[in-house]
Amino acid sequence: MTQILVTNSEGRPGVGKTAEMLAAGHGGLDAIEAGIRLVEADTSIRTVGRGGWPNLLGEVELDAAIIDGNTFRSGAVGALKGYLHPISIARAVLERLPHEMLVGEGAARFAHETGAQTADNLIPDSERVWRQWFEEKVSPDDQRKWPNVPLAELCQQAIDPEKGMDTTVFLSLDGRKEIMAGVSTSGWAWKYPGRLGDSPIIGAGCFADSEHGAAACTGAGEMAIRAGTSRAIVLYMKMGLSLEAAVDEAIADLRRLKGGLIQRITLHAIDRDGRHRVVAVNAEEQLTYWLWQEGEAEPHAEPAEIIAL
Ligand code: GLY
Repeated sequence: MTQILVTNSEGRPGVGKTAEMLAAGHGGLDAIEAGIRLVEADTSIRTVGRGGWPNLLGEVELDAAIIDGNTFRSGAVGALKGYLHPISIARAVLERLPHEMLVGEGAARFAHETGAQTADNLIPDSERVWRQWFEEKVSPDDQRKWPNVPLAELCQQAIDPEKGMDTTVFLSLDGRKEIMAGVSTSGWAWKYPGRLGDSPIIGAGCFADSEHGAAACTGAGEMAIRAGTSRAIVLYMKMGLSLEAAVDEAIADLRRLKGGLIQRITLHAIDRDGRHRVVAVNAEEQLTYWLWQEGEAEPHAEPAEIIAL
């Protein structure tokens, strides 16, 4: 068995830190949290943390989750406003509460209680783009009544969601042979307030089982929620499928989705023997991911497979 770390392309600011920690013998949960914190703080990553795109009201709502593949203890936060590191608040849910997920005001209340760092996550560039959308797409009458207007129609016309539906995902098999996963995102740009994607939903956006493997998704979270994609991949491995076949089976599940949002979704998976597979389903351009394996000096980028539904 060899240690392995897989992150998607958005993991760039943190993948080196996580690999370094794994190589130094740290456990996966600590290494993943430390790496994701760097992604969340990097404003050049526009779909995670500070710098992430806002919802329809121009507010940045963040989602994150982390799961321990030994115990299946998880922690998740959804629609969290005003904090810099949702991954650490998710970790605190895992460690300090008898719950697995907190959302909205409850998540913010808990974040305050843990002394988590606050942040104004709407950076000037995001505010500028949101305001331009507001002035161009919201009728003068609704602008006057804002925010007390119906949002459903505006949500249907949101800006290219493909731009803003990415995430960062980290999967690790560490030196203790333990498998962990963590994810963090600002979700769908111009989403309806309160919308949760797959990321905070354990089993949809990520799952880990130290006896079998881990999986995580980026892209159209609505698809991963409907198909329970991350849990499905790991369960297919538990039921005896190879990593390759488990991912194929999850793609077959996605093919059965009818109606709703069908877009690009990227599946990332590792198994307990240190194999991995990353498949971009419905991608219109080449996507890359980051890979580090035990013995390598640093992570390197690899092209994802591309498959159409
Ligand atoms: N995959 C991230 C989201 O849909 O919010």
